[in-house]
Amino acid sequence: MTDIALAIIGGTGLYKLAELQDVTSHEPRTRYGMPSGPVRVGTLDGHRVAFMARHGEGHSVPPHKVNYRANLAALQALGARRVLALNTVGGITERFGPRALACPDQLIDYTWGRISTICEEEGTEVLHVDFGEPYTRSLRQAVVAAATKAHVVLVDGGCYGATQGPRLETRAEIVRMRRDGCDLVGMTGMPEAGLAREMGLDYACLAIVANWAAGAGPDPDEVITLQDVLDNVSAASAGLPALLKSLLAG
Ligand code: HPA
Repeated sequence: MTDIALAIIGGTGLYKLAELQDVTSHEPRTRYGMPSGPVRVGTLDGHRVAFMARHGEGHSVPPHKVNYRANLAALQALGARRVLALNTVGGITERFGPRALACPDQLIDYTWGRISTICEEEGTEVLHVDFGEPYTRSLRQAVVAAATKAHVVLVDGGCYGATQGPRLETRAEIVRMRRDGCDLVGMTGMPEAGLAREMGLDYACLAIVANWAAGAGPDPDEVITLQDVLDNVSAASAGLPALLKSLLAG
């Protein structure tokens, strides 16, 4: 098993890492079942990097059906110890408008009915992992430093609210989330982060803001369309290759 310097999980609108070279594909069956799709392992600036699309490369797996455990277990089985999660999100507070990049430092979990622990099977050890700081501090700091070095504008911090989806939120739900302290809203931040902690993986989130969350922008009647989401993800991702290269260079 060769060590992987970084594993990346791509979210909505991010199904491939074009910069990966000499790619081999793996689809390991894990003790939790099959991952969302193939894990592509290759080199990026001389570093071994794994990439997988959280929703599958054809975006066929909705947020509540993603086998988060299998995805992380597949990356871990291939030798990954650090996971950078790319999450497409809506922005709630002022600093997190469309096309912003952010590296949140807190989260609130509003999801339900998802398998959110590896302590499911009878006979497995019951874990009560510390989760006060849900993202790995050293990896977060490395991401923030890499962005600065690469001159990629990134908001350092923020609270990610994970909702169930796949529908978007009501305006009242976003008002409540803002009151709760959420800056960002997405559908896939949990249980992924909690599982990564249970599995002993370093894990950080790079959030890509695709839209103002319902009612949060200057036009409270704005309707969020998939096309806007995809256009904004594409524009906001322009700095990603430079950020990733900077992160890998350490
Ligand atoms: N809400 C939840 N998830 C999202 C959003 C949103 O507004 N935009 C992109 N993912």
